Amino acid sequence: MAGVLNPRRLRLGVNIDHVATIRNARGGDHPDPVRAAQIVAACGGDGITAHLREDRRHIRDDDLKRIQDATNLPLNLEMAATEEMLAIALAHRPHAACIVPEKREERTTEGGLDAAGLHNHLMPIVGKLSDAGIRVSLFIEATERQLDAALRLGAPVVEFHTGEYAHAEGEARARVLKQITDMAALAAKNGIEPHAGHGLTYDNVTPIAAIPQLAELNIGHYLIGEAIFDGLEPAVLRMRELMDLAR
Ligand code: PXP
Repeated sequence: MAGVLNPRRLRLGVNIDHVATIRNARGGDHPDPVRAAQIVAACGGDGITAHLREDRRHIRDDDLKRIQDATNLPLNLEMAATEEMLAIALAHRPHAACIVPEKREERTTEGGLDAAGLHNHLMPIVGKLSDAGIRVSLFIEATERQLDAALRLGAPVVEFHTGEYAHAEGEARARVLKQITDMAALAAKNGIEPHAGHGLTYDNVTPIAAIPQLAELNIGHYLIGEAIFDGLEPAVLRMRELMDLAR
């Protein structure tokens, strides 16, 4: 995979859910998220991220295989910790599965997974995904309690939820940034690969991308929004440039 030789290079996973959101608005097959995945691959993105929700509001079951077949990029499947999603993940064997909390009424993933509170529920799911060779990531808030839970669950990766960072301003943002910075260092020290994502934009990505231990950012909504104005390739390249400049 691109970037493996340079440990300082932060991988960019592009979440293509909202290409499917636009497609689904008309119920047809345009715009196709597969085409977005191909563009991401052609312009140097490091991975494709897709969230198969219980209500299938964006990515649908049949998209997964088509996305996997369309490029050589690793697929990071975001999924709720349910039996249904576990069976789908085991059938598709994506490179990675990021376990996220999911509430039917939410517009997007609000807050991190309570890995600490859900330990017993998550343990067999993490185990079965890992046994199938799928790299498990837990989408958590950057707190010691959740990181400790991820360690106890044996997750090789955590993705820190940057939603609060993205929405906060001034001192509040600085405080959350410090929390993410500290937890990224602690994760790496304990052998967990830290990632981050949610709500990242051209304007707020730099301080996050500068956190040296972070290995990957997953970015979707903003990039797809910018793609409407500039095209997907320029949007991905601009984000890539900002990430590189931050290191
Ligand atoms: N990472 C995870 C685990 C997510 O659930 C999401 C949103 O689906 C993202 C990253 C991307 O967030 P955004 O679309 O705000 O860039």
